[in-house]
Amino acid sequence: EKIVLAYSGGLDTTVIIPWLKENYENCEIIAVCVDVGQGKETDGLEERAKKSGAAECIILDVRKEFVTDYIYPMLKANAVYEDKYLLGTSIARPLIAKALVEIALSKNATAICHGATGKGNDQIRFELTVKALAPQLKIIAPWRTWDIQSREEEIEYLKERGIEVPMTKEDSYSRDRNMWHLSHEGLELEDPKNEPNFKKLLQLSVTPEEAPDEPTYVELTFEKGIPIKLNGKAVEPVELIEYLNEVGGKNGIGITDLVENRVVGMKSRGVYETPGGTILYHAHRDLEYLCLDKQTTAFKEIVATKFAELTYSGEWFTPLREALSKFVDATQETVTGTVKLKLYKGNIISAGSESEYSLYNENLASFTTGELYDHHDAEGFINLFGLPLKVRALMMMDKGKQ
Ligand code: ARG
Ligand code: SIN
Repeated sequence: EKIVLAYSGGLDTTVIIPWLKENYENCEIIAVCVDVGQGKETDGLEERAKKSGAAECIILDVRKEFVTDYIYPMLKANAVYEDKYLLGTSIARPLIAKALVEIALSKNATAICHGATGKGNDQIRFELTVKALAPQLKIIAPWRTWDIQSREEEIEYLKERGIEVPMTKEDSYSRDRNMWHLSHEGLELEDPKNEPNFKKLLQLSVTPEEAPDEPTYVELTFEKGIPIKLNGKAVEPVELIEYLNEVGGKNGIGITDLVENRVVGMKSRGVYETPGGTILYHAHRDLEYLCLDKQTTAFKEIVATKFAELTYSGEWFTPLREALSKFVDATQETVTGTVKLKLYKGNIISAGSESEYSLYNENLASFTTGELYDHHDAEGFINLFGLPLKVRALMMMDKGKQ
């Protein structure tokens, strides 16, 4: 039996290799690391996987696809979960699972194994994607079946088998990093009454207090809702996000701390660093304020909430998410133009936007009377608009209640 394992090189997925070999007779393990921008974590991975007993280790760089086919559709939708979370972990999971499925099919593997726990969202995201794309594949989730309960027991398990332990016993946050964000859970965050220990925790950014006293300006140009230029120059998707993470992080942008509702029913507390993403969302919204009409804006907000919920819950490869993306794309036809932003001590301050499709009409908005707008029309409009209020008030008066 061939098993494709979602492998990161960390403690959890390292333990899984010997465990699979002991529990699935004659299995051959293909360790797959899908690179969505977790950074240093991919160094020395192949060697580690083989030392732990994997037959093969594949590292797949999907960073560009991550940005263009996952992050950008989410950005165009303005999807934010529970008003605060830019979905950094959620959005990467369907792509990681899709890559695992593709490798499994090409290698004639029969199962996919992941290291997510039985308490979290990640298991749902991985498994819904596998079910949607390759229902014939078996799913193995060791955390839901084995007896190992803690990191200490994992370390013990590896030591007993003479396998090098990739990590020390030292306490650290549970983190998940990719191009879009870095998440932190655990330690003092587990009690919502504690203030996060930002000094110890932050890795992509500084706190607003530590940010420079001088502001930084960025100018972003969008075409149909997608960022294509940075400060007037054409830019590649991966390069753009890396740059924005850098300047955003330096200015303390995009740090959020929230108690969220997990799919499995419990609340959990996390701190997320999404510097570049926060800048892109702000810029994209500024352009939409200029280019979208009132009703489209209002309906799009409903879609954004649903889109976020689907993304959070691992329902990416679903008919509804795909249909919503088509709606969103239709709204983006005129979301083309340039936005300037000022970054300053954790804040993003809009500094002007322009678009050839702008619906903002200066003549209309200014106080001088023009031919497009006749003040007299307002009187009749208000009479009709207020008619239901007037009818009701008359009725109440009639009954002596007003
Ligand atoms: N709570 C966030 C989410 O569900 C982040 C999860 C981080 N995942 C992890 N394996 N550390 O999307
Ligand atoms: C996990 O349980 O693997 C991490 C937390 C989550 O998935 O929400």
